[in-house]
Amino acid sequence: MPEVRVKARDGSDHIVAATVGAPLMEALRDGRLGIDGTCGGACSCGTCHVYIQAEWLDRLPLKSSDETMMLEALGEFVPLKDNSRLSCQIPVNDALEGITVEIAPAVE
Ligand code: FES
Repeated sequence: MPEVRVKARDGSDHIVAATVGAPLMEALRDGRLGIDGTCGGACSCGTCHVYIQAEWLDRLPLKSSDETMMLEALGEFVPLKDNSRLSCQIPVNDALEGITVEIAPAVE
């Protein structure tokens, strides 16, 4: 199970184990790190927004048009960055061992 390094909203650092083949969102949600994953990974809620450490971006699948549209909608409420991704759209694989993410601000 790849380990994911996570910076929570309060600045604290955590490590969670992720399941290969499952969305990254599930490991963050199950780790109770502030990711709700309200839509269950259907790319329709935006509650799984994370900032990916730059060195990992090239190892991730490209954003789908659905993810891009959801992020654009989210950007009206929270800061979007070049490294913004929806963690439900990132399938975990062994190559992501050590990936580092920061939980984005919650939509109020
Ligand atoms: S879990 Fe809803 S958009 Fe990712």
